[in-house]
Amino acid sequence: MKNGISFIAAALAALVLLPACGGSKNAEVSAQSFDDIVASRRSVRDYEAGTTITEAQVRTLIATAMEAPTWANTQTTRYYVAMSEEKVAAVKEYIGQGNARNTANAPVMIVSTFVKGQSGFGRGNQANEVGDGWGAYDNGLSNAYFILKAREQGFDTLIMGMRDSDALRTLFGIPDNEQVMAVISLGKRASDPRRPDRKPIDEIVKFY
Ligand SMILES: Cc1cc2nc3c(=O)[nH]c(=O)nc-3n(C[C@H](O)[C@H](O)[C@H](O)COP(=O)(O)O)c2cc1C
Repeated sequence: MKNGISFIAAALAALVLLPACGGSKNAEVSAQSFDDIVASRRSVRDYEAGTTITEAQVRTLIATAMEAPTWANTQTTRYYVAMSEEKVAAVKEYIGQGNARNTANAPVMIVSTFVKGQSGFGRGNQANEVGDGWGAYDNGLSNAYFILKAREQGFDTLIMGMRDSDALRTLFGIPDNEQVMAVISLGKRASDPRRPDRKPIDEIVKFY
């Protein structure tokens, strides 16, 4: 009898866990290793229609992005989140036709910026030759945390560097001291994208 109960408990547990282990589409939040999340994260250019994403869900992603390291903890990355139909459509006007087509059903569009002259600077002076490149570096780290957390939560993203920064600055009233960086679409994939090939590891690393 005891064995019978354990068998039923194991079968029920398997039923609960199975959908999370199989396939990468809309991965479940539980039972995912870091490697699972990295492997299933792709640049998604085909979004499911009718997906709803709440402000609370986006806040969860931003909170994780804020855990990324930054130069002297300067935390210069900013996010402008379009959630209303009107604002989302307006952002899609400023990312080029190809990107607009690929993000057609994405319900949330996010503009990422960083405050210039802080990361990579000390007492107003540039710390080294990279200058505001460190702000861009911190911004990329923040975005990386964001997109991986999004995947863990069952969402998908596309980072877009092709965008009209002036138009977006006007749309959101982004101040001049911020550098507009990527636009990131947020939604759920409608199909599983192919993984673009990576270079052989020895092409990018040297050990000494
Ligand atoms: C800074 C940056 C800018 C990008 N800009 C675009 C873009 O404008 N449009 C697009 O379709 N993909 C864009 N991508 C996505 C890349 O093409 C994609 O990350 C790359 O091909 C690897 O594919 P994967 O993300 O699925 O691994 C961009 C990615 C990064 C990091």
